[in-house]
Amino acid sequence: MKAIVLDKDYGSVTERELEEIKNAYALSGIDLEFRHYTSEEEIIEGCKGAVAVLGTGNPPITRKVLEALPELKLIQRFGVGVNSIDLDAATKLGKIVLNIPGFCAKELADLATAMIMGLIRNTVYYDRETRKGNWPKCSYFLPPDVRTLTLGLYGFGAAGQQLGNIFHNGFGTKVIAYDPYLPEKVKAKYAYVDFVSFDEMIVRSDIISIHVGLSAETKHIFSRDVFKKMKKTAMIINTARGGIIDQEALTWALEQGEIRYAGLDTVEKEPIEPDDPLLKMDNVILSPHCGSYGEGAKKIQIKTVCELIPTAISTGEIPVRNVANKGILEMETGYKFVQEAV
Ligand SMILES: NC(=O)c1ccc[n+]([C@@H]2O[C@H](COP(=O)([O-])OP(=O)(O)OC[C@H]3O[C@@H](n4cnc5c(N)ncnc54)[C@H](O)[C@@H]3O)[C@@H](O)[C@H]2O)c1
Repeated sequence: MKAIVLDKDYGSVTERELEEIKNAYALSGIDLEFRHYTSEEEIIEGCKGAVAVLGTGNPPITRKVLEALPELKLIQRFGVGVNSIDLDAATKLGKIVLNIPGFCAKELADLATAMIMGLIRNTVYYDRETRKGNWPKCSYFLPPDVRTLTLGLYGFGAAGQQLGNIFHNGFGTKVIAYDPYLPEKVKAKYAYVDFVSFDEMIVRSDIISIHVGLSAETKHIFSRDVFKKMKKTAMIINTARGGIIDQEALTWALEQGEIRYAGLDTVEKEPIEPDDPLLKMDNVILSPHCGSYGEGAKKIQIKTVCELIPTAISTGEIPVRNVANKGILEMETGYKFVQEAV
């Protein structure tokens, strides 16, 4: 039985970790191969006969790919976002998409916190200037008091909740959120959060932090029109997916002073283009898509990947929480979906 890691050089998982996963797979009689494919054609050509494919990043697992690989039954993402996989096509074709929901929620919230506080306190700007031999004492943006600000969370799932807790419990910052899909019983646990409309969130927030997946509904939702409605002193933080922000509109908004700062772990095209104007802006903090990077998340990530598919192959059981295309739960797949986590 053959399984293939599609993008071994993506950078989110080390060679040693891949070897650990290969050994775990071998115990269940699965031969795990490491490849680096970037196009649909390469995936189709290279994955014939594989029962499972694994994406450490976001390889294109499109309808065309899924239709061309009839033996493929299991698709494992090493993370949360499944925006590069056609979930509807996978469900229709009886293929199970697996992810690791919430595995790095604390790390994403910690990174968002670092970016928010870094921008408020001008830390990256001061560091850059000091290293250049300058000493811009008590200059640049006058830091507002974070305790008096309003934090708006776009998406209040695992990461949004962690970030809300940090700012509410740590600073007493006002927290508002927009998440129309959050069950009422979850909302009820967060009495300190005002759940508001999208329009209210963008108008009231001093800081907006994005914590939704990339979908047709969220793509480019932060447009010129939205930036125009935000406060001129506002900050936007994106540790979710680059495509949620229209990057050209963001550049425009920062250049025009429609908003003041941005902290971005993800951009539309990664790595960022060397001539991207964001690279020259002092009021922008960038990081190379490492929101999940952290000891705790790493342990959960590798353990889960070592166990999920080997358990599915040897016992036929798959935990419901790790199934990303929930529509498949109603279908006859030959696997038994169980409530408890592996
Ligand atoms: N930077 C990184 O390295 C990194 C790592 C992991 C995940 N991520 C991204 O972070 C995102 C958030 O992670 P999470 O663990 O909090 O996910 P999550 O699934 O726990 O939370 C997502 C929340 O978004 C809400 N939502 C969905 N569509 C929405 C919409 N149109 N408007 C408002 N809310 C909507 C959902 O109801 C849910 O509560 C992931 O979807 C993923 O794309 C980034």
